[in-house]
Amino acid sequence: MRRLVAESRLSVDDLVAPLFVREGIDEPQPVPSLPGVVQHTRESLRKEVAALADLGLPAVMLFGVPAAKDAEGSGAWSPEGIVQVALADLRHEVGNDVVVMADLCLDEYTDSGHCGVVAADGSVDNDATLERYAEVALAQARAGAHAVAPSGMMDGQVAAIRRALEQGGHPDVAIVAYAAKYASALYGPFRDAVGVSIAGGGDRRSYQQDLRNRREALVEVTLDVEEGADVVMVKPALACLDVIAAVRATVQVPVAAYHVSGEYAMVKAAAERGWIDGPAVAVEQLAAVKRAGADLIVTYFAREVAESL
Ligand code: PBG
Repeated sequence: MRRLVAESRLSVDDLVAPLFVREGIDEPQPVPSLPGVVQHTRESLRKEVAALADLGLPAVMLFGVPAAKDAEGSGAWSPEGIVQVALADLRHEVGNDVVVMADLCLDEYTDSGHCGVVAADGSVDNDATLERYAEVALAQARAGAHAVAPSGMMDGQVAAIRRALEQGGHPDVAIVAYAAKYASALYGPFRDAVGVSIAGGGDRRSYQQDLRNRREALVEVTLDVEEGADVVMVKPALACLDVIAAVRATVQVPVAAYHVSGEYAMVKAAAERGWIDGPAVAVEQLAAVKRAGADLIVTYFAREVAESL
């Protein structure tokens, strides 16, 4: 009876696996604060995505860890940049069987650790960053990305990327916009995974949202849809279930939620201590995100939950 009347269902079809690929390593490197997550080599990434395809996972989201960072973040758009070569590998491996998305940002590639171009006074220059994002989008599209996922929260980023993709001959590449992204301490383990520390002990509060606000998220997603976003994302997920519900009621495009690194790490840490039943809590958390209204969920639990469903 419970099965018959369930109001929402979590399925492998809902899940997107975030994956890290690191330049210049011979063996996958575990990420200590994300048990079960590794920085992949190009080869191990290929194998992982093939295995996820066999499990029926519909999509992956790729993050690059370059061997060297610079002031500009040039690894983000270089044709030889780690994400570009990995995208080409993956398209060769899985073709169109899995949707290959690429996170589109500069923070993994800049020595400042900021998501954009840093001006002389230390602030992030929104409009200069848009030009960079357009280049990154084109590089990722040329390398074979089915979708790009701008995560830097710059104003106008979706419009700038849509325009670049149209003019550059890649009109079919989708934009999965991190539309309502909050400044959060829950991204800590992710920053370990990509080796990012923000210059001067700084933070992202000048371009990411304030967790006390919900209406602001609706402004952000509405702008992104107007600019051409194909999917809008809310992040983090559990801390924003009310925002996910409000966004679902506001827009007509699919809504994604990112169950972020800190949300995953907390479950793993408590489970390691025997304090909670980790796999059960993982499924409960993702079910709650689904119930709140998310159509797709980006989660480090993707593989283990896909195996258990
Ligand atoms: C930015 C980006 C971040 C995450 C995804 N894309 C870090 C940030 O905004 O600081 C965080 C994901 C996570 O915590 O799992 N490129």
